Amino acid sequence: MLKIAPSILAADFARLGQEVDDVRAAGADYIHFDVMDGCFVPNISFGLPVLQSLRRATDLFLDVHLMIERPGRYVERFCQAGADLVNVHVEAGSTEELLKAIEAVKALGKKAGVTLKPATGAEAIEPFLPLIDLILVMTVEPGSGGQSFMLDQLPKIAAVRERIERLNPACELEVDGGITPSTAALAKAAGANVLVSGSAVFGAADRRAAIRALRGA
Ligand code: DX5
Ligand code: ZN
Repeated sequence: MLKIAPSILAADFARLGQEVDDVRAAGADYIHFDVMDGCFVPNISFGLPVLQSLRRATDLFLDVHLMIERPGRYVERFCQAGADLVNVHVEAGSTEELLKAIEAVKALGKKAGVTLKPATGAEAIEPFLPLIDLILVMTVEPGSGGQSFMLDQLPKIAAVRERIERLNPACELEVDGGITPSTAALAKAAGANVLVSGSAVFGAADRRAAIRALRGA
């Protein structure tokens, strides 16, 4: 079944614990945690101390999306702060650095993911695919919520799914950015099995109905 990962970037940070409890009760599978450093992307969001607090507040699976330069410098600290899975961007460091970062995450008993910006081709995942638990395909330019889904990413989602089936069928395929009930259906048809959603879940008056709509149920 399709998993839904609400992005807390669209939550009310003054009541973050309640927001997470609320989407959990509404049927969320994961919580997506968007870390921005003001360098890899123009915005700054939140980081380690917020993750630590959130870890104490929920036992929901925490999917951490690091939009930071040279993430290898920080992955161990994000694992120790409570991440269940750490995503690094393939554009954020050298292949060697990123392979080391993935090894460090796995050595701490956590899951590792690799993320692709819209301009990066599906082939970029090949050096990492045998080692990882999740691939995250961005369907907006990373850096902010509330943007429109880039339809030109659909063939890439299908190309990533084809590589997963061939090289590491247990790997999950997550899609992030501009997910609404209609784009959710397109992403699912192209091969995604986890959908991140910020505004369509946290911005909805009825979050249970919003999550159900994203699942297509
Ligand atoms: C964008 C973030 C997304 C964002 C999605 O840089 O990675 O996770 O919160 O927000 P929506 O669902 O509003 O596009
Ligand atoms: Zn994200």
